[in-house]
This record gives sequence, structure tokens and C-alpha cells, in this order.
Amino acid sequence: MRFGKVSKWQELERKYFMNTVERVPVTIVRGKGARVWDEDGREYLDFVGGWAVDSLGHCPPVVAEAVTGQVNTLIQTSNQFYTVPQIRLAELLVSNSCLDKVFFCNSGAEANEGAVKLARRYGQHHLNGAYEVISTMGSFHGRTLGMVAATGQPGFQQPYVPLPTGFINVNYNDIEAIKAVTTEQTCAVMLEPIQGEGGVNLPADNYLKMVREWCDQKGILLILDEIQTGIGRTGTLFAYEQYGIEPDVMTLAKGLGGGVPIGAILAKERASVFVPGEHGSTFGGNPLMCAAAYATLRFIIDNDIPEKVKKVGQYLIDGLEGLKQKYQFITDVRGRGLLVAVEFSSDIAKSVLTDCLDKGLLVNRLKPNALRFIPPLIISNDDVDEAVGILDKALSNIA
Ligand SMILES: Cc1ncc(COP(=O)(O)O)c(C=O)c1O
Repeated sequence: MRFGKVSKWQELERKYFMNTVERVPVTIVRGKGARVWDEDGREYLDFVGGWAVDSLGHCPPVVAEAVTGQVNTLIQTSNQFYTVPQIRLAELLVSNSCLDKVFFCNSGAEANEGAVKLARRYGQHHLNGAYEVISTMGSFHGRTLGMVAATGQPGFQQPYVPLPTGFINVNYNDIEAIKAVTTEQTCAVMLEPIQGEGGVNLPADNYLKMVREWCDQKGILLILDEIQTGIGRTGTLFAYEQYGIEPDVMTLAKGLGGGVPIGAILAKERASVFVPGEHGSTFGGNPLMCAAAYATLRFIIDNDIPEKVKKVGQYLIDGLEGLKQKYQFITDVRGRGLLVAVEFSSDIAKSVLTDCLDKGLLVNRLKPNALRFIPPLIISNDDVDEAVGILDKALSNIA
């Protein structure tokens, strides 16, 4: 076991940081493709990918080039002015999705906050002031107070009560539950097409279609949070494409910037009801991050990365299914594309993670009894073989 001692950097972190995250004892200093290196020069295969952010891997040349070029041209103006990178990115997003208009911000939580504000404005314009948003248990929509209220997980909510009002959390995959709480006050339903942080929970057959139909029937908006599922992660550019529906509003972040922070709200024309002054952001649409996102998205589209994700994702699922045959304590393997989870019959995720780390593989602990695999979208079948091989060894130590 090579992780015993706390390094100088890790000691300094303890001294200076608020205690918000239980860190894995690795100080990453460099990355390339699907690999990272720690302060002692040890190499790891990265199946965490910056929490589903590093879509093209670490330091992808197209992003590095775009950022370097932009950093020497124009980094930041205010949004009073037109800037070319954000307009090019908006055009690329709109022409490759079912949405018509874009607003750029800096993170996923901020994109969702903006989407809820948009839905409330829509409610004021079209639904007699309706303001309530229905979201689901087990969801994850971000860490702002509003998004904590939208996130249907008591563990995230209880430390911050009282929470902002106007959010109702109902069971996921239960259309009747949504119907039961829809009232004159409802302006939107907000869902992740596949719940990511909440467990990689897939929608039941027709669930999303039924939600879409209900929103249409009631004239309320469907907001899809594609912050984790979007930008090719599940095998199509956006997950909604696989479920035969279109959202009225969609939020993006994570993989969009290829590692550079950016968020976006996209909306259908009729839902795009903001007027000047009603919403804004100092850094949102900053030329530097938009240049990075444009390069990332262009690469993903031009190289049909979603199709590759479909294949390599299935290869990963097949490999994990093989382990499930071998180890009785694996109770479930689930996911789409490169958003995949493995669940165990007991709380062994931390010890498996530590053993994987020791053997050179980074994985994410989703729950005490589950691991998540969210690697860069550019991994190969060989990378999958290596990861599954390491996991196999780690699991054989448990069995
Ligand atoms: C589906 C979803 N929405 C929103 C967020 C919040 O994004 P951020 O951490 O960029 O605020 C996350 C982050 O994990 C997410 O997975």
C-alpha cells in the first residue's frame, strides 16, 4: 500500500482549506490524454475525468491551442459588448441541438439557477405567475441554495434549512407523482435525463416521454439538466436524443469546456423570455472560456465522438458485466455511454477505490456501496481493458 504518508502539499491543504471535500490522497500535478501523474511521478489511468468534465482528456491539443491563441488576443470584456468566440459557440450549440437561444454562465449550478429564473419569468408571462418547479428525489442540480432546494437529497438539504421555497421533490421515474403535485402554481418540471450523482439512475421506459406529454398538456416547461449527460457523455451529443423528446430548456456545463469552466442555458424560442437586465453574469460567455468550449465541441462533433462513446461505453459495460459474473457481491452494472456505475452488496466502495489507486487507476466513489466511471470520452478499448483488469485485481482482494 503506497499511500500512507501525507505530503507537504496535503499538509498545507489541511492548514488553509475549508473542510468541504474528503480528498483522495493524491496530488495531481500533470495530465495528458486519459493519464495523470502525481507529485512523485506516479502514473494513473483517469476514470474520473475531473467529474465528467475532461471530455477530451487532459490538456487536449485543440483546447490548449484555442486557449493559448485566445489568451493572447482577448481574455475578458463585459457583456455590454459583442465578442466573436461566444457568438460562434452559441451558433454551434444551437445548430446541433433542438434549442434556439443561449445564455452563457460559469458553472452547472449557475446554469440551473438561471433556468429556474427563466421558468419563473415564463410563469409570470404565460401562467398567471406560476413559480413552482417540480424536481425529483435522487437528483443533483448544484450547490447554490436554490439548487440545493431543487436537489432531492435530504443529505444536501438538511444542513441549510430553511431552503428557498418554490421547489417540490417527487420520486424519480414516477409520472403519477409529478401529476399529483402539479397545480396552478407549477411553471416547470426539472429533470436529469439520467440521474448522475444520485446513482447513475436510468429513466424507466417512456418516463421522459410521459413527462414531456404532461408538460405539454399543462403548458408548463420541461427543463432538462444535461450538465452531466450532455456533450457526448451518454453516446449522443445530448441524452434527450435517445429518449424521443425535446426539452424547452436545457442546461449544460461540465464537458462543454473541455476542462475550462463554462455553463450554458439553452431554450426554445417561445421559452426565451428574458429581457435586458433580468439576468446576467460578469464572466459568463468570457471569450477565453468560449474559445475553449468551441474547440471542444467542434472536435466532438467533427470526430463523431458520441458514436465512439457508444461503442467504448458498451465495451466498458461488457467488461464490468464480466466482473459481475465473477464476483457475487457486484449487484448491478448500469449506465449509458461513459456514465457507468457498479453497485456492491455492501459498503466496500472506499476500500476498492483505495486499492485501485494503489494499482494506478482513478475511480469515483458514488455511494458507500457504488463506484462510478466517468472517464474522458477519448479512451480506447485498451484503456478499458486496463481499468477492468485493475478493478478485477482490487475486487479479488475483497472476495
Ligand atoms: C446533473 C448536474 N447538475 C448540476 C451540477 C452542478 O454543476 P457545478 O458543480 O458545475 O455547479 C452537477 C454537478 O455534478 C450535475 O451533475
